Amino acid sequence: MVRVAAPRSLAAVLLAACFGLAIPSGAPPARAQGEEALPQEHWSFSGPFGAFDMAAVQRGFQIYSEVCSNCHSMKQLQYRNLTAVGFTSDQVKAIAASVQVPLGVNDQGEPILGPGTPASTFRSPFPNEQAARAANNGALPPDLSVIVKAREGGPNYVYGILTGYTDPPAGVQMQPGMNYNKYFPGHQIAMPKPLSEGQITYADGTPNTLEQEAHDMVTFLTWAGSPEMVVRKQTGIRIVLFLLLMTGLTYGVKRKVWAQAH
Ligand code: HEC
Repeated sequence: MVRVAAPRSLAAVLLAACFGLAIPSGAPPARAQGEEALPQEHWSFSGPFGAFDMAAVQRGFQIYSEVCSNCHSMKQLQYRNLTAVGFTSDQVKAIAASVQVPLGVNDQGEPILGPGTPASTFRSPFPNEQAARAANNGALPPDLSVIVKAREGGPNYVYGILTGYTDPPAGVQMQPGMNYNKYFPGHQIAMPKPLSEGQITYADGTPNTLEQEAHDMVTFLTWAGSPEMVVRKQTGIRIVLFLLLMTGLTYGVKRKVWAQAH
């Protein structure tokens, strides 16, 4: 079910229409009864003037490569898209060349693997859905290209999933192979806890707390799903400024034209 947050005011609605933004309603999105309220994180990209913290996007890509890409595809991304987050084209070539991607099939119909190029799609961990389910207790790891847009609660929800693993409360019977997560609907998730304190070694020396890792991961995933977000906001701001200017000019012209009419 899609729940839309109640808009705060007409101005907020107009601004949202101009910027194409979800309206921040102040209150966290309503959750089903008995479900934990989502964490309310501060994001560099939120608000009409928000912009992606590209260092965080790069760190999140590192986590995707080291951890998530073992189970999740991101089929809407190509390695060359990474130049937009500050990797040089040589770095992108090296990143792409470090993974083995399918390059076609040989005469026997077997897949040929070889180093990727900047034009390659992000490598998928499994050849098909059946293989992905077989390796994951029957559950399908969803493609992460647009996961932040696809889930109610967006970045705060995905952050919640990454930080919400706990022991099941007393009396909760877990299905075999499932893990307890405070924020996952129904609380039983097939994904084992993917991130933990100290797991990632950042080249830039950023502290590797679980919160930091989850924050960087979600910043990367949000960028991946909406790389054009910042341009869209800036265009919105320019349009609003233009409209204000036009309003002023039109009003001035009206005053001048009507000044003679008595
Ligand atoms: C060992 C495999 C594995 C790894 C590694 C893994 N995941 Fe998952 N992930 C899964 C599976 C399986 C599911 C489906 C869970 C379900 O439906 O119960 C899932 C589901 C998800 C979901 C969707 C939850 C929802 O609301 O449906 C998100 C978001 C997610 N993973 C993010 C990540 C991120 C980010 C990483 C890396 C930090 C990661 N995963 C690493 C296996 C994995």
